[in-house]
Amino acid sequence: MTRGAVVITGSSTGIGRACALHLAASGFQVFAGVRRQEDGDALQREATGTLDPLLVDVTDGSAIAAARERVEASVTSAGLAGLVNNAGIAVSGPLEFVPIDDLRRQLEVNLLGHVAVTQAFLPLIRRARGRIVNVTSVGGRVANAFLGPYQSSKWALEALTDVLRKELRPWGIHVAAIEPGAIATPMWEKGADEGSEILERLPAEGHQLYGKAIRRMVDVAARLGERGAPPERVASAVEHALTARRPRPRYLVGVDARVQVALNRLLPARANDALEARLLRI
Ligand SMILES: NC(=O)c1ccc[n+]([C@@H]2O[C@H](COP(=O)([O-])OP(=O)(O)OC[C@H]3O[C@@H](n4cnc5c(N)ncnc54)[C@H](OP(=O)(O)O)[C@@H]3O)[C@@H](O)[C@H]2O)c1
Repeated sequence: MTRGAVVITGSSTGIGRACALHLAASGFQVFAGVRRQEDGDALQREATGTLDPLLVDVTDGSAIAAARERVEASVTSAGLAGLVNNAGIAVSGPLEFVPIDDLRRQLEVNLLGHVAVTQAFLPLIRRARGRIVNVTSVGGRVANAFLGPYQSSKWALEALTDVLRKELRPWGIHVAAIEPGAIATPMWEKGADEGSEILERLPAEGHQLYGKAIRRMVDVAARLGERGAPPERVASAVEHALTARRPRPRYLVGVDARVQVALNRLLPARANDALEARLLRI
């Protein structure tokens, strides 16, 4: 007896992987989105329950259409109980110098990709009166220096989550935002690599203006990543959003996320700016 079928994008590692394994173990039929067959095979070996790898790059329209066809052929009239838009990358750097193509790539994956996947699967979700869960971030509620590309994608995803929840209300399709703080996943390492690359590509003037502060930010980020909460904590929030009788519109995950949002709400903007400047020694 299954609790229904769910599609999760970006399941090869981190939060997506934890969600795929957790939801399969708790009785869902999981379609685990990956970009490489070997990542899907590895997940399938580890899973208890029903888990089928689903090849999908969220920036590739024909891959999304093929994934939808495969899922539809499997679920038929039962439809889809859930879609978890989780895939993501983290691009950072001072806005004055961020290459526009890097900003575009950031928005392609973290924002437009999710819209395209949601559009493709919505007819199947409507059949089952399913739910949509968007993995945004506490970075979709606060804004920090040098995280402009990443956080702008998450702020926009927060807005689209609210819009979609209102638009889909007539069909009883709930849409939730999951807003994790620091979670221990490979994203931090990948983000640091991207950060160093962007640092390398900065023109001399950029180095002179921002180099010290960026290096400090990379250090702070590395420490945050090391102390991050386990991704299984996010998986539990995703399960609640998919199954609770009264799911919440947004789920802040982690004490650090709650503290950041509270500080942002309570402190005047200038005091917040000064606090962050002190942290980054700007
Ligand atoms: N870790 C945190 O502290 C944290 C905090 C807040 C929010 N989040 C959000 O949580 C989500 C998952 O991140 P994570 O921390 O678990 O990082 P992760 O381990 O790096 O996972 C990212 C996943 O996204 C996939 N992906 C990247 N580009 C893709 C594309 N074009 N199409 C399909 N899949 C793609 C990756 O697949 P490949 O292996 O093929 O690259 C990987 O499976 C992201 O949206 C992230 O912004 C993370």
